[in-house]
Amino acid sequence: MEIFLDSANLNEIRKWTDMGVIDGVTTNPSIMLKDGAYNIETHAGEIAKMIFPQPLSVEVTTNDLSEMVSQAHQFDSWAQNIVIKIPQINQDGVPCYGVIKQLEESGIKVNATAALSIGQVMLAAKAGATYISIFAGRISDEGGDASGVIAESVDWLERWDYKSKIIVGSIRSVGDVISAALAGAHIVTIPPAMLTKMADHQYTRETVRQFINDANKAIDMLNKG
Ligand code: E4P
Repeated sequence: MEIFLDSANLNEIRKWTDMGVIDGVTTNPSIMLKDGAYNIETHAGEIAKMIFPQPLSVEVTTNDLSEMVSQAHQFDSWAQNIVIKIPQINQDGVPCYGVIKQLEESGIKVNATAALSIGQVMLAAKAGATYISIFAGRISDEGGDASGVIAESVDWLERWDYKSKIIVGSIRSVGDVISAALAGAHIVTIPPAMLTKMADHQYTRETVRQFINDANKAIDMLNKG
């Protein structure tokens, strides 16, 4: 399984990249806004360069299908490792699978985003998406079974030999990461704060404290002769 960082924060991206635990980065317009990335081109260019050759997902910012295609070509020209996020449907419910098909056929990798059901996953896979993002937290928010949707989607893709990889996003807790991993997600995209929590454990701290104390006691014994 791969881990992506769900962030546009340059310091966090550098930090987790340097630790060698992330395989890519995902963003969306809300994450860009939250992290102060107001100039998408400059910011995405910096992230893409920092993590190259790992993939960076950047989402289109329009509701119009032909504008999605032209934005995608524009974003794609910024760096070789940019993947274009296209939603399953636009805000009026118009399916965007034709956009996904057209971009993939022209050699642009697509992350078909905001999937909340296995039906959407099937259609995005048929359209040829490289990645399909299932939003676990938003499925759970509505009382749905996120793990079920993830497991069934991964099984279905593998049974019929589709190339699309499932990214699980909308992670709200470390428990969500583990559930997605156990459900068979190919990739989980995790916000930096959640990765920090994932690394931490009270008892690990206590264990390390005990070992350091004992190491210091041994040095004292040695010095006392
Ligand atoms: C990931 O690709 C998504 O952009 C992100 O995880 C969405 O998370 P949210 O539901 O917290 O907005």
